[in-house]
Amino acid sequence: MLDCSFKTSKAPWKRLQVQRRCFNTVCVCVCVCVCVCVAASVPQFTNSPTMIVMVGLPARGKTYISKKLTRYLNWIGVTTKVFNVGQYRRDATRSYNSFEFFRADNAEAMKIRKYEACAVAALKDVSDYFNRDLGQVVVFDATNTTAERREVILGFAKENGYKVCFSLFTDENQQVKLSSPDYVDCDKEEAVADFLKRIDCYKMTYVPLDDNKDRNLSYIKIFNVGSRYLVNRVQDHIQSRIVYYLMNIHVTPRSIYLCRHGESELNLIGRIGGDSGLSPRGAKFASALGVYLRGQCISDLKVWTSHMKRTIQTAEALGVQYEQWKALNEIDAGVCEDMTYEEIQENYPEEFALRDQDKYRYRYPKGESYEDLVQRLEPVIMELERQENVLVICHQAVMRCLLAYFLDKSAGELPYLKCPLHTVLKLTPVAYGCKVESVFLNIEAVNTHRDKPENVDVDREPAEALETVPDHI
Ligand SMILES: *[C@@H]1O[C@H](CO)[C@@H](O)[C@H](O)[C@H]1NC(C)=O
Ligand SMILES: *[C@@H]1O[C@H](CO)[C@@H](O)[C@H](O)[C@H]1NC(C)=O
Repeated sequence: MLDCSFKTSKAPWKRLQVQRRCFNTVCVCVCVCVCVCVAASVPQFTNSPTMIVMVGLPARGKTYISKKLTRYLNWIGVTTKVFNVGQYRRDATRSYNSFEFFRADNAEAMKIRKYEACAVAALKDVSDYFNRDLGQVVVFDATNTTAERREVILGFAKENGYKVCFSLFTDENQQVKLSSPDYVDCDKEEAVADFLKRIDCYKMTYVPLDDNKDRNLSYIKIFNVGSRYLVNRVQDHIQSRIVYYLMNIHVTPRSIYLCRHGESELNLIGRIGGDSGLSPRGAKFASALGVYLRGQCISDLKVWTSHMKRTIQTAEALGVQYEQWKALNEIDAGVCEDMTYEEIQENYPEEFALRDQDKYRYRYPKGESYEDLVQRLEPVIMELERQENVLVICHQAVMRCLLAYFLDKSAGELPYLKCPLHTVLKLTPVAYGCKVESVFLNIEAVNTHRDKPENVDVDREPAEALETVPDHI
């Protein structure tokens, strides 16, 4: 797992948002108008930064959900970061190695564990993240869940004008989290015993949210790994998106298979977009894909395609039921549809350079950008989260967007992710990330990957613009 966050924070509308925060009464009207115009393609989800505070005993999946939610929010363009108080604690007390440390009567340890020692540092970094790095959402993965600790967080948020939404995990499942960083290089059995004792220590001070006393707070309670939810006072669009996401994810083991259609007629001659059928090698790949999938013995595999001929022909060869999604159609290249890169350079040299300058945000005239594509694919991601084993037969740009979500890739990296033809990527969720297996099905295909050329100036020479164009007929 790479730790990347979207670098959209330099968007001008976000700078305005910060100003608006400071000079609230003076420039609210001016800024609102400007924001609306500038932010046309980037949905502005929230006017004040939001803290999502994870509450619950250890081993309830707080860290897992924190990371996953953060990955999702960054992918949809909401700048988000996890702050894990446990990490601050580990940094502060490098010597920790047994449950003794967590006993409320262990005075020496308590001193270190005190709010001032760990969480103050975390909260300071939270406000830096909002003010300096223009973050929009913080997922605060707290460990100590007493009522006082929550008061401190609420007080801090109120003082700074941040919104707070608690997220509670209240299942009684004793699934022990041995992947905890506290237990790196430990004997397994000892670690389990220590961990269970540690949970008991927390229970001594743990106070869950009270339906009546805390009725004015925003929170979502998740019971027994998502079998029941209680949602209280959701305040805005971003919080309702978060609630919706949390209600759709599950932890059942499964794999997601991503691949592109078989090589198409237009791929062969180096033309982008269009709606051509498969080349003879593309058809071979389609049958090889069927053989590969039968070899995997996947139970109850769902197959999805786009509305385009080349993905449908690929799925047809599998001899199974499949579902067509218009949302999975390839990026719309607008006026450049059906062109070769050479033709784009000849007809629209400036557009070609602008695209190389910022491939994620660049929108083809009368077409789409990668950023648009991510918005279009959001319902696909949501449905992928709900489903179990799925094969998605899609297109190069679409596959890059889906892959970036699962592998937590930044907006800068996304348009350059390598998604070659005739190669299946098998994604399997593990601990805090995703395992990727890349399987080339041994059918030759043209290369369609064009790297970013060195020179991206609008007045570059045609040869420089075409330097990285892959070979074609
Ligand atoms: C949690 O924090 C509160 C004060 O913020 C403290 O009184 C309590 O003992 C702490 N509990 C644990 C288990 O660290
Ligand atoms: C909740 O808010 C209402 C209205 O602001 C207030 O009257 C009430 O005392 C609050 N209740 C609690 C438990 O804080």
